[in-house]
Amino acid sequence: MLPVLDIYTFDAPVLRKKARPVRRVNNKVRKELDDMLETMRSAAGVGLAAPQVGISKRMVVIDVGEGPYFLVNPEFVSRSAETETKWEGCLSWPGYVGEVERPLRVCVKALSRDGHDIWVEGEGLLARALCHELDHLDGMLFVDKATSIVEVEPDDLKDSEGFSSLTCIFMGSPEFAVPALNELVQSGINVPLVVTQPDRPYGRKKTLMPTPVKKRAIELGIEVFTPETLSSPEAVGRLKLVEPDFIAVAAYGQKLPGEVLELPRYACLNVHPSLLPKYRGGNPVQRQIMAGEQKSGVSIIYMSERMDAGDICLQKPVDVDPNETYGTLEKRLSVLGAHALTEAISLVYTGSVVRKPQDDKASTLAPHLKRGEEIINWQAPAGDIHNLVRALSPVPGSVTVFGTERTKVWRTQVLPLEGFPFSADAAPGTILKVDDTMAVVKCGKGVIGVLEVQPVGKTPMAARAFLAGRQKGPRKFG
Ligand code: NI
Repeated sequence: MLPVLDIYTFDAPVLRKKARPVRRVNNKVRKELDDMLETMRSAAGVGLAAPQVGISKRMVVIDVGEGPYFLVNPEFVSRSAETETKWEGCLSWPGYVGEVERPLRVCVKALSRDGHDIWVEGEGLLARALCHELDHLDGMLFVDKATSIVEVEPDDLKDSEGFSSLTCIFMGSPEFAVPALNELVQSGINVPLVVTQPDRPYGRKKTLMPTPVKKRAIELGIEVFTPETLSSPEAVGRLKLVEPDFIAVAAYGQKLPGEVLELPRYACLNVHPSLLPKYRGGNPVQRQIMAGEQKSGVSIIYMSERMDAGDICLQKPVDVDPNETYGTLEKRLSVLGAHALTEAISLVYTGSVVRKPQDDKASTLAPHLKRGEEIINWQAPAGDIHNLVRALSPVPGSVTVFGTERTKVWRTQVLPLEGFPFSADAAPGTILKVDDTMAVVKCGKGVIGVLEVQPVGKTPMAARAFLAGRQKGPRKFG
């Protein structure tokens, strides 16, 4: 799974700049094109220009249903005089469409992903997409050419299901929970109250910091409630006033007493980032990566007094890439969980949900990290070490020592055994070879490439640079 890039919107300056031509189609350009395609697909778009993801280069990806086009330095060869006026939208102008007159047929010349000359002839939607994306490269947006622009309800469909008549209390705290709150509000559900953890002291100065959910709720103009506990009669009374149809919970971080679970008219639903009954508990995402799971997903469950043990309402699986980190997987699951949550609310509300009890015997636990778990054990198999490193990225980072120096290890790569001859009695942790991209290190089983490290008090650096500055070191980690 490739990373999904942020799409710049509305008045981002990069959208208004004339993009630079690409000098050579190299691996970096190919990687950018691949990331753009992934980003476009995950946003369900038909075209994406590099400036939209903050890259001011003349490249676009387009897929109108016949497979992707990667176009580098595209230029019009011809444009038909005959035109067509239709509605179009843009990922950089979410929530709006406009009527734009475009040529009915165009021909574009470009370099392909392999750096070869290609010509694309398009008619109708493909012609429109080509014009729209090429405009982006000159800093032009569809709103500049549109004769009328209207706001589209993000979820017309859901609203016709009667979402606007539903009232939901949202409970959540960290960044993971923010997409769920956004999606609830966007779907048209009435969210009059957000419950989140109280502000906590942060950093050396012990500044009180609001949770990410509190910050977002304030931006959305929603009332925020931050009780130390939900078990007090005052807290329960406050929730009762809302007369909620649903309570939606995502990583709130506090137990809900039975009285609160009983409160909503329909259900108290929880978003959990694993395929339950596996990985119950407070740290499912890191634990799944540490275990090298290739399948993950989100579960929407009916909350019960036993943690993460309630009946399943809805599950959505995803594949996990063998190099994916905790950071990206959690982000993906938070967005997937947000979609699943509103879908689950719709299922429950319309009475079309199939409630499935969890099989307790198949359950596993996902506890928080214990002290010392971040330290790399070089006696372990290479695959386990790799899984630890990516499970602890971007926080808190896995740790090893080089001589007396402590360093974090941010990026590794499992290597095939062939091509790295080493003496069988070299101790695990021994650095077998250093090249431009990595230090090859012997493990308890197999070898691993260490790509990026960060010694205490320094910024992250390539393993090669780290070792070059420490020639007198022990040639061994751990
Ligand atoms: Ni666009």
